[in-house]
Order: sequence, then C-alpha cells, then structure tokens
Amino acid sequence: MNIFGKQGEALGQTAKQFVSVLGSTGSIGQSTLEVLSLHPERFHLFAVSANTRADLLLSQCEQWQPEYAVLRSKEKAEWFEQSLREKGLQTQLLVGSEGLDFIAGHESVDIVMAAIVGAAGLQSTLSAVDAGKKVLLANKESLVMAGALFMHAVEQSAAVLLPIDSEHNAIFQCLPSNDSQLGAEQNLLRSGIRKILLTGSGGPFRTLPLNQFASVTPEQACTHPNWSMGKKISVDSATMMNKGLELIEACWLFNCSPSDIEIVVHPQSVIHSMVEYNDGSVLAQMGQPDMRTPIAHALAWPARVESGVDSLNWSQMSGLTFESPDEHRFPALRLAREAAEAGGNAPIVLNAANEVAVEAFLQTLIPFTAIIEVVQHTLEKIPFEEPMTLDAIQAIDFQTRDVANACCQTFQQLSSS
Ligand SMILES: NC(=O)c1ccc[n+]([C@@H]2O[C@H](COP(=O)([O-])OP(=O)(O)OC[C@H]3O[C@@H](n4cnc5c(N)ncnc54)[C@H](OP(=O)(O)O)[C@@H]3O)[C@@H](O)[C@H]2O)c1
Repeated sequence: MNIFGKQGEALGQTAKQFVSVLGSTGSIGQSTLEVLSLHPERFHLFAVSANTRADLLLSQCEQWQPEYAVLRSKEKAEWFEQSLREKGLQTQLLVGSEGLDFIAGHESVDIVMAAIVGAAGLQSTLSAVDAGKKVLLANKESLVMAGALFMHAVEQSAAVLLPIDSEHNAIFQCLPSNDSQLGAEQNLLRSGIRKILLTGSGGPFRTLPLNQFASVTPEQACTHPNWSMGKKISVDSATMMNKGLELIEACWLFNCSPSDIEIVVHPQSVIHSMVEYNDGSVLAQMGQPDMRTPIAHALAWPARVESGVDSLNWSQMSGLTFESPDEHRFPALRLAREAAEAGGNAPIVLNAANEVAVEAFLQTLIPFTAIIEVVQHTLEKIPFEEPMTLDAIQAIDFQTRDVANACCQTFQQLSSS
C-alpha cells in the first residue's frame, strides 16, 4: 500500500488523510465511502462501523480492507470474526461502544465522519472531538442533546468541526471566508449578518390534506420527494421535526438564537440554505439534493474535490418557490423552537421522545400523528433542569425514553380499545 501517513507529511510528501466512518453502513456512511472511492490518493479508509448490519459491514471490509471494523451489537460478532478470517482479511474486529471510541480517537486518524443516527452517536462523536480530529458532523442529535458541552469540548480541543447536514454545510459555505471556526468564535453581528435562512423541502406531506395524516404508513413517510435517507431522518422530515432539530443544531454551530433563524420552505431542494447580510445581500448555496456534495466539501475542506454529483440542469429547472412553514400542520417546528428557547434539558427530552415515538411509528405501534403528541406529552411530564455533565445528559435521555415508551403504550391501548 502506498500510504504516506504522518511521517510522509513530515518529509513534505502529500499525506493521505486517514478516515474513520462511524455508521459506515448507513445512508451518509455509504455516500461517504462513494466519495472516498473517487480519491484513493487523498484518503485512506482506516475504520468502519455498524450497529447490526454485519453482512454489509463485511462487504465494506472486503472492498476497503480497513484496519478496524466495529460492530456495536455483539450479536453477530462471532460470525463476523470468522468471516474475516475465512476471507483472509487483516481487518481487526472491535465490539461495543468502546470500539467506537477507539476508532474515533485513534492517533492515526485525521478525519472522523460522525454518521451514527440518534443519541447513540453522541459518545463516539465526543471522543473524536476530544482527540482533536477533523470531525464531520452528520449526527445532529449530538448537538441537540449536548450542545453546550459539545461546543465547549470543540473549543478546548484542537478539533475542527464541519457540518454535514446540507443546510448547515450550505450556511457554512455562505459565511465570510475567514469565519471558519464554528461555535463561540462565530459572531453574526460582527460578520454583518442579518439572519440565517434555513431552508427545507417541507417533506412528503407538505400538501397532504390534514385529515389523511392519521393513516400515513411508514413506507409513505420514508419516501422523501427529493432526498434518499435513513428511516429515522426520513420520518423526521415528514413530521418536520428534522427542521426543528436543525434549528437547534444551527443555534449551536453558528452561536445564535432561534430568532436569528428563519425557516423557509423550498420544495425543490435546489437552494440548501442562505445567509442574509446587513446590506440586503443574500448568499445561497445551491446544488443537486445529494449528500455527496456536503460530504466532499467537508472531507477536502478548505480544498474542493470531485463528489460524483451532477451539475444542476438550469434549462430543465421549472422554477424555485418559497413559502413559510405551516406550524399548525407541523407542530414539531413549534415544539423544537420552544425547546431551543427553553434550553436546559428541553432539547434532550425533545430528541429522546422523538426517537422513541419514531421507532414506535416505524413498527406500526402508533399512528403518524401520535409521534408529535408523544413528544409533547413527554415534554410536559419531565420537569426542567440544567444538566452540566455527560452523565446527567445521558440520565435525562434514559428517563425520557421510559416516559415516552409509556406514552406510546397508552396510545396503543387507546387504539386497541
Ligand atoms: N441521510 C441523510 O441524507 C442525512 C442528511 C443529513 C443529516 N443526516 C444525519 O446523519 C445521521 C445518519 O443518518 P442516516 O440517514 O445515514 O442514518 P441510517 O441510514 O439509519 O444509518 C445509521 C448508521 O448508524 C448505525 N447505528 C444505528 N444505531 C446505532 C447504535 N445504537 N450504535 C452504533 N451505530 C448505530 C447504523 O448501523 P446499522 O446499519 O447496522 O443499523 C448505520 O451505520 C443522522 O443523525 C441524520 O440525522 C442524514
């Protein structure tokens, strides 16, 4: 293998960047591997990880021969280990959350793609931050749950944080070019910024009659008009909770308050977000709705590399439209804005209750409309507090899951009686 690594860098050779992908079997993880495959001279895939999809992880090991593979769940570890040996692969298997922390913080690693879905991604993403890596943040739930602690860890370490969510990546690209540090270093006023325009497609049910919401199926909710994504974020897009979580994420990344951010529904998903300056100028980042663009942007930042994404076809674009979000139709937006304004444990409760309710909906245990009702009831049941440590944050996350699960069961009992 022709890998220069860190010693090569010292000798003035172009160093390959070593990459760990947390959640390599997911939608973002697979798109990341596609971009990496275009640049074998720049990047080396050092480690991959999955929760349960051991077969896909194994085929990634066959193709990429990374140093490490991590299975979060122990269930298929024995089969996986045996398969690696049968195929003559040198990849080492690690199991459990310690394995994720290990590949996130390993001294050989330069870049960590944080693409685990949900609260499960928090700890390993923080490990990458603490180890001073270039952290490509897809796992928005980390920031929603632990924004203050997370951004403090970024400030204290040598980590470089780059947003992968297409909207936040777009905003980052529209900031003044010297504003490359996110978090407390950001100052919208000093940068002459009037507001951030966070765009969203409105999801698959933007125009669905309200009386049909209750009978929406998981399959319908997971069929997004523009983006191909994992199930949880697809359902979040359908309830517009995703936009609410993104609002909270943006507040932390760009050091601003919810009132600095306007949500704009833009069904075509050509503009991925905008920044409005004091002089009235609005800068937008545009492109195909394809996550390989923000992934390639962040992987190579501050350089630009090929992503494999086609150009926009201007002659076939029939029009770009914009509208205000309808909070009556999508109450998740209001709940998320209120949680962002309340701070403390509210975003943790919002996030955990939503994860529980989305999972219950995907298992057809509760109807689509109950997702946000479960979130709202859970927010009402858990008293306000200000968690200061990771342990306290995780305790609130667990407590919320109990309350939200009980709430889902009540919905099930009501619907079966
Ligand atoms: N997809 C998009 O276009 C998109 C866009 C913007 C932001 N994001 C964000 O990116 C993150 C990933 O989204 P996705 O759509 O790629 O999700 P996904 O397709 O569901 O993939 C999730 C990944 O996380 C792994 N995982 C799941 N539960 C885990 C656990 N408990 N411990 C460790 N690993 C676990 C999965 O492993 P298995 O395969 O074994 O289940 C998989 O590799 C989310 O935070 C999402 O909000 C996604």
